[in-house]
Amino acid sequence: MTLYADSLKALTVNELAAMKRAGEKISCLTAYDASFSALLDRVGIDVLLIGDSLGMVVQGHDSTLPVTVDDMVYHSRSVAMARKRAFVVTDLPFASYATPVQALGNAARLMQNGAAQMVKLEGGKVEVIQFLVEQGIPVCGHLGLLPQSVNRLGGYKVQGREERQARQIVEDAEKVQNAGASLLVLECVPAGLAAEISRRLRIPVIGIGAGVDCDGQVLVLYDMLNISTGKRPRFSKDFMVDAESIEDAVRRYHQAVKSAQFPAPEHSY
Ligand code: KIV
Repeated sequence: MTLYADSLKALTVNELAAMKRAGEKISCLTAYDASFSALLDRVGIDVLLIGDSLGMVVQGHDSTLPVTVDDMVYHSRSVAMARKRAFVVTDLPFASYATPVQALGNAARLMQNGAAQMVKLEGGKVEVIQFLVEQGIPVCGHLGLLPQSVNRLGGYKVQGREERQARQIVEDAEKVQNAGASLLVLECVPAGLAAEISRRLRIPVIGIGAGVDCDGQVLVLYDMLNISTGKRPRFSKDFMVDAESIEDAVRRYHQAVKSAQFPAPEHSY
């Protein structure tokens, strides 16, 4: 079902919620610059995520930890200026939202200087989410694998395989929603768990390595174009195979998400 895919109107948080209610899958990709932003927007990608993955795929670090708020503002602004329709979500980077007041200062910079329409933060930080929402800042939660906690987790591993951990993720997802978040990214969790969370929540759940039953999908752009250095994660797919151009690869991804052809079981846990 594609009620909103062909509309040229700029998307808001309301249309994203309506897409979930209508059963229309939400397509999302990371973007870091104006040229890719314009290309993704032209194809019809619904949400552009200025992810702190830019620390790895743009800056060449081995984690997202070195990324600063200044970096995020710069890339967010570059992306936001070039798109007409897509909704812009920007990551709060590592250690930039330890308290509600710190989060507000940094989220305000992302919105005022980076033209973000929503900020994303990792973990079940209910107090911070509630405070930001009270100040009029839309929030996207991020649960499952939390890349900013890679040193605590001991690597980039699938989360929620054991029952106790799975229940904790479900509980956190409900808390994040109840705190006022408008979107939730679920990263690297078993497909069945992600399906349960997507069913339980009113807000759209965007999966990455979380199976086909989420309300939408996101990938790191450079992974799906197969230009990232290092090993492509199992949950990603090289959309350049069979594509005639980068734009064609992005279109194939968009169509595969909308028609629930991606992710296939081999991209899921
Ligand atoms: O930083 C990022 O690109 C992300 C996605 C992996 C969801 O948070």
